[in-house]
Amino acid sequence: MENHICNRTVLITGASSGFGRQLTLDLLDYEVDLILVARSMNRLETLREELSSRTDRLVEIHALDVRDRQAVESALSDILSRHTVHILVNNAGLALGLDPVDQGNPDHWDIMIDTNLKGLLYVSKPVIAQMRTLDSAHVVNIGSMAGRMPYPGGNAYCASKAAVHALGEAMNADLLGTSVKVSTIAPGAADTNFSPTRFEGDTEKARAVYEGFTPLNAGDISHAILCVLNTPPHVNIQHLDIMPTAQRNPYLLHRNS
Ligand SMILES: NC(=O)c1ccc[n+]([C@@H]2O[C@H](COP(=O)([O-])OP(=O)(O)OC[C@H]3O[C@@H](n4cnc5c(N)ncnc54)[C@H](OP(=O)(O)O)[C@@H]3O)[C@@H](O)[C@H]2O)c1
Repeated sequence: MENHICNRTVLITGASSGFGRQLTLDLLDYEVDLILVARSMNRLETLREELSSRTDRLVEIHALDVRDRQAVESALSDILSRHTVHILVNNAGLALGLDPVDQGNPDHWDIMIDTNLKGLLYVSKPVIAQMRTLDSAHVVNIGSMAGRMPYPGGNAYCASKAAVHALGEAMNADLLGTSVKVSTIAPGAADTNFSPTRFEGDTEKARAVYEGFTPLNAGDISHAILCVLNTPPHVNIQHLDIMPTAQRNPYLLHRNS
């Protein structure tokens, strides 16, 4: 793949696990500086050690809960006073529960909406303000097929991801006439820590999600993000759906018996 992002600084939220973690590792081949955000400092430190043993580039880590508006404002103010962020990957997110709306847990709804939607806005605001001054910049939002086609029990999660898709379009509208591209990537079923998180450690339920077919893995999504990032300056992939071959939409999933 061509390298259009050499010497850029990339800020990734949700870098401690799954797609975000894999992306940081794959970005080692692209000569970029990395600013990594997640809540778990332990996992970020382990990741930084692994990255630093393989590169001399900047690897900066920040334990940050994207739901905490004041903490995000303060951390981003510090980061942006020291670095120019050319690429923002808004990846932090989660699903909790899979109950019908009348049986849903409002605490779960708050966490999903605060993380997937409001956290994305909090992080994006100061970064995009700086990006407006740059010759080229790119925001990649991680949406979901759940946001394109809601499924039973997905209610608040699906709504939060539909909002991410709407935000991607709105950001592109806001940034008309600038060099800032905005891309939204919508993965289907991918085997990460997503399902263990959704089912709060119920490993049997989590494992059942991926039984009988080959799901996407973190490398597949990282590869898609790198493809989107490595387009020439005049090309803006605004939306990308990426599904396992066995899954054509959230309802159409072929499982081997
Ligand atoms: N896996 C799938 O099937 C799938 C499909 C479509 C879309 N997605 C989306 O892809 C994104 C990445 O998920 P994944 O599959 O890679 O799951 P994952 O392995 O559970 O990773 C989620 C990441 O988000 C971070 N995070 C969660 N809440 C956060 C918060 N409040 N503040 C900062 N970071 C937070 C987590 O780090 P900490 O816990 O350390 O904070 C972790 O690094 C999410 O937005 C998810 O909705 C996943």
